[in-house]
Amino acid sequence: MSGASGGIVVLVSGRGSNLQAIIDAVHDGRLPADIHAVISSEPGTPAMARARTAGIPNHVVNHRDFPARELFDQALIQRVDSYEPRLVVLAGFMRILSESFINHYSGRLINIHPSLLPDFPGLNTHARALQSGAKSHGASVHFVTPEVDGGPVIIQSAVPVLPDDTPEILAERVLTEEHRIYPLAIRWFLDGRLSVEGGRVLLDGEQRPEQGLDRQIITHNDSPETG
Ligand code: GRF
Repeated sequence: MSGASGGIVVLVSGRGSNLQAIIDAVHDGRLPADIHAVISSEPGTPAMARARTAGIPNHVVNHRDFPARELFDQALIQRVDSYEPRLVVLAGFMRILSESFINHYSGRLINIHPSLLPDFPGLNTHARALQSGAKSHGASVHFVTPEVDGGPVIIQSAVPVLPDDTPEILAERVLTEEHRIYPLAIRWFLDGRLSVEGGRVLLDGEQRPEQGLDRQIITHNDSPETG
C-alpha cells in the first residue's frame, strides 16, 4: 500500500472488523496511509487472516509466551518499532498495556472503545448501556494514556438506544459507527490536524462537537467532513 502520508501498525486480538474498515479505507483512497504491519496478541485470529488476505506483514506476539506483562510489552515494542510507525492503532487489542509501553508511544497510540466515554469504560459496554436506561450510546476514538479508556477523546459518534435493543443489536449499530470514525481519526492524525490542549483534543486548533464536547448535538446522522 503506497502513496501514504504515514505508516501505521495495527494491534489486534480477535475478529478484526475495525482492522478491515481501515484496510478498506486505505484501498479505496479515503485513508492515505501505509499499514506497515498487523500484530496480534493471539494466534489464529480472524484479524490475522484479514491481514494476510490484504498482503500486510503480520505477526503474533503471543502473551502466553511471556511470564510477565512487562516482558510481553517489551517484545511487542521491539516488533512494533521494527516497522517505525508514525501511529500505533489498537483495534480490538484485548491486553492491558503497561505504563512503560504507553509512555513509549505517548501521543501516537490510539484506541477505539465501544461507548461514549467517559461513560462505560471497560468491558460489556452495550449491556451496561442498556441496563442504565441511556437514550444514546456510541463509540469513541481516544489517545491512550495509563488510565484505562481514560485518554483524550479524538472523535465520538452516538447512536440511539431503541426499545427492543439487545446488547447484540446495539453492538451492531455501534460497530457501523466504529468503522466510520476510526479511519477518519487516523486520517486526522496522519494529516497533522490533531493537537492536545488542556487534556482536550483539538482538530485544526478547534474543539468540534463530534469530539465529544457537547453530547446534545451529536446524532448518528452527523457526518464529519473527511477533508
Ligand atoms: C470493538 O467493539 C472495539 O470498539 C473494541 O473491541 C471491538 C473489536 O472489534 N475495542 P473488532 O476486532 O475490530 O471487530
